Amino acid sequence: MENVLLTGGAGFIGSHTLVELLERGYQVAVVDNLCNSCEEALARVKKITGKDFAFYNADIRDRAAMDKIFSENKFDSVIHFAGLKAVGESCHKPLEYYDNNIYGTLVLLETMRAHGVKKIVFSSSATVYGTPERLPLTEDCRTGGTTNPYGSTKYYLEGILTDLYKADNEWNVILLRYFNPVGAHASGLIGEDPKGIPNNLMPYVAQVASGKLKQIHVYGNDYPTKDGTGVRDYIHVVDLALGHVAAIEKCTTAGVHIYNLGTGVGYSVLDMIHAFEKACGKKLDYVIEPRRSGDIAECYANSDKAAGELGWKAKYGIEEMCRDQWNWQSKNPEGYNR
Ligand code: NAD
Ligand code: UFG
Repeated sequence: MENVLLTGGAGFIGSHTLVELLERGYQVAVVDNLCNSCEEALARVKKITGKDFAFYNADIRDRAAMDKIFSENKFDSVIHFAGLKAVGESCHKPLEYYDNNIYGTLVLLETMRAHGVKKIVFSSSATVYGTPERLPLTEDCRTGGTTNPYGSTKYYLEGILTDLYKADNEWNVILLRYFNPVGAHASGLIGEDPKGIPNNLMPYVAQVASGKLKQIHVYGNDYPTKDGTGVRDYIHVVDLALGHVAAIEKCTTAGVHIYNLGTGVGYSVLDMIHAFEKACGKKLDYVIEPRRSGDIAECYANSDKAAGELGWKAKYGIEEMCRDQWNWQSKNPEGYNR
């Protein structure tokens, strides 16, 4: 079994991946500076799995700390979740985003190289496709044309990691392009805990359902989609976590391996609101607003490559996504700070 370092392992996707790895007997360690998460998430992971793991409260940009972490462990691979991810904020703080996401990754890669660890799974995003060349998106679709600094960090980092492999063919680089992760672990013990008012649709919907927010704002109903609202490929976060396990297990040879992780099904904003109404048993108030700048009409994956090569396919549908998101929200109305 591989010994895996999870950067950003206390976050939303990291904590769910941690559970799946621990349950399969992997030895894991987490490095996270808790800038967008809290230690309670890690305590909950221990509760779910009954397993312990090392946690380093450190910034991936801190060379000395990273060197110490790699000296104390014999990692086989790294799953690199750590990064800032708020699209709107990145437009106001581009330097902070490039520093954290790009410089942070460079420090991580240099430390890995110094310690002879050459396998990395990188959290990329469907955002690298910019305005989709065609739908559904396959991995060979054109990338680039990102519309915000956050998206650009993902696009540039894919390029940096590819260059690294070109320079040294011993590297095993796995780029996982996530579509829209939602839902939570079925236990209701871990889930997404956004700071302040959520930017993303589903945490916002969940907080309207719990009464914390008043009304959902639907950004645009004049897109060329079935009901005029934006269409996305929502994927249950546990399915996404399992995609990482499959990538670690199946990608054993050097190279640059790229996979879309989505369900292949697009749902509109109104579809998601109605599915959530069923899950929570309440009518949810919403208002139509103008389009949000930078948004695209539709985005959904073709995930056949992951199915064929990783043997991975999303198991959960929209009902389970809403059920589990509601379970988390209703049990933890204030997130981890209850
Ligand atoms: P998250 O914010 O919940 O998790 C990221 C974690 O990284 C947090 O715990 C944060 O404290 C930590 N972190 C950030 N900068 C750090 C640094 N310099 N040093 C150490 N730790 C640091 O976000 P998430 O939703 O779990 O996303 C994980 C990864 O997946 C991110 O790279 C994100 O960009 C990417 N991604 C997310 C989505 C999404 O919609 N959630 C979609 C596509 C890609
Ligand atoms: N939306 C609303 N109201 C809201 C929030 C969102 O109507 O309050 C709409 C958006 O206009 C869009 C859809 O809901 O049509 C989904 O929006 P999200 O903000 O939830 O997600 P995005 O598709 O914009 O982006 C997310 C992540 C990105 C990531 C991308 C692809 O935020 O980081 O998925 O993985 F790059």
